[in-house]
Amino acid sequence: MVTYLSRFTITIIGLLVIIQSTPSTSSPNNSVQLLLLSTTHIHIHSVIDFGAKGDGIHYDTAAIQSAIDACPPGNKPCEVRFPPGEYLTATIRLKSHVTLNIHEDATLLGGPRIEDYPEESSRWYVVLAENATDVGITGGGVVDGQAMKFVVTKNEIKNVMVSWNHTGACSGDECRPRLVGFLGCRNVNVWNVRLREPAYWCLHIVRCDNTFIRDMSIYGDFNTPNNDGIDIEDSNNTVITRVQIDTGDDAICPKTYTGPLYNLTATDSWIRTKSSAIKLGSASWFDFKALVFDNITIVESHRGLGFQIRDGGNISYICVCVCVYSLILINSSSRTRLLNIYIYICVCVCIVQEMSVMLPSLTLTSAQGTMIHHGGEERNLYT
Ligand SMILES: *[C@@H]1O[C@H](CO)[C@@H](O)[C@H](O)[C@H]1NC(C)=O
Ligand SMILES: *[C@@H]1O[C@H](CO)[C@@H](O)[C@H](O)[C@H]1NC(C)=O
Ligand SMILES: *[C@@H]1O[C@H](CO)[C@@H](O)[C@H](O)[C@H]1NC(C)=O
Ligand SMILES: *[C@@H]1O[C@H](CO)[C@@H](O)[C@H](O)[C@H]1NC(C)=O
Ligand SMILES: *[C@@H]1O[C@H](CO)[C@@H](O)[C@H](O)[C@H]1NC(C)=O
Ligand SMILES: *[C@@H]1O[C@H](CO)[C@@H](O)[C@H](O)[C@H]1NC(C)=O
Repeated sequence: MVTYLSRFTITIIGLLVIIQSTPSTSSPNNSVQLLLLSTTHIHIHSVIDFGAKGDGIHYDTAAIQSAIDACPPGNKPCEVRFPPGEYLTATIRLKSHVTLNIHEDATLLGGPRIEDYPEESSRWYVVLAENATDVGITGGGVVDGQAMKFVVTKNEIKNVMVSWNHTGACSGDECRPRLVGFLGCRNVNVWNVRLREPAYWCLHIVRCDNTFIRDMSIYGDFNTPNNDGIDIEDSNNTVITRVQIDTGDDAICPKTYTGPLYNLTATDSWIRTKSSAIKLGSASWFDFKALVFDNITIVESHRGLGFQIRDGGNISYICVCVCVYSLILINSSSRTRLLNIYIYICVCVCIVQEMSVMLPSLTLTSAQGTMIHHGGEERNLYT
């Protein structure tokens, strides 16, 4: 245990040195590799051949699911293709070795009805992969959660949304489906895809190992509540790079709900959010270890970094390098925009020692802006 920890510490300190000396050029390599699919060994199924209409009116769920289920067992990679069109669907379930390839002129539309989703609210996703290995989504196309169909009352501060709490499947006012979920998976690849308008969280990575999210974008309406960009929960070895996130709620949101989170790297990404660009904590009881955020550009956002380690769990070995442009100040009580101040600042901060809930002085969040310790000084990015 001691040996493991000291080796681990050395690795991380090595990383810190790189980031502090050349903040803009470092892009830590990682062990997660894109699954290189060779066309000669790949099975290709078009959902059209399985009966999908792609007209955006008829449900194509059965056709899409048959195309996935017809993928051969064993370790053979299988690509399920969506030619140009609009595919309205209830929850579809990915299985091991299947990649959804959505043509750049194709859109998967998530159904807006409660009967479009499984019984247990923990499985309310438009695309769901559970306990699968080598799974992914790509192709340049769109997965759209149709959030606007869940709006009860439009409001320029915060839309009032449907809640399916009357079913007893979940309680509170946040009972709506997420968009894409990988639960208990290994070797997850999400690249070259556009995730849009989730009714609730957008991309949810839960208890996964080896996840590579790159060259993709997430868009959610600024006034839709809870439309988080990427929530990484209880997962190890996650790499996020060249991602553009524009949402009304937290953009990159690591959580430790049922277990710890190790080795998360997010680089070269662009974020605009009404809430926190990077938010650690809330519903987090276990440890966060070895997190690197490098070259993250944050524009017009309410908060840059939010560390809300209030439930328990420690953060250790975290490095953050962010550049912040043009923060829009939002009054935290009314959540209306007050003024738009243009600033440009790049900051790197590394915390090597344990950061514990017991140390309120290390809580780097504030209602007004983002508090960052740098060179012994405390800075508020709004001033
Ligand atoms: C990153 O790792 C991969 C796989 O080990 C390797 O092929 C590649 O050359 C590495 N890239 C850099 C910049 O070190
Ligand atoms: C996935 O694994 C978890 C934990 O072992 C189990 O509870 C769950 O039922 C599994 N789901 C499926 C669809 O096999
Ligand atoms: C159910 O959701 C509605 C609409 O968001 C909310 O007003 C209500 O308080 C919720 N009910 C319960 C019991 O949580
Ligand atoms: C992540 O790594 C930690 C430490 O080895 C381990 O306890 C945990 O179960 C791992 N989680 C997953 C999802 O593999
Ligand atoms: C985290 O990354 C380090 C360095 O690559 C590796 O040695 C370690 O096994 C990883 N931890 C987990 C829990 O996978
Ligand atoms: C930083 O990220 C942006 C994308 O947001 C990218 O265009 C730029 O090349 C990156 N800079 C470096 C030095 O890697």
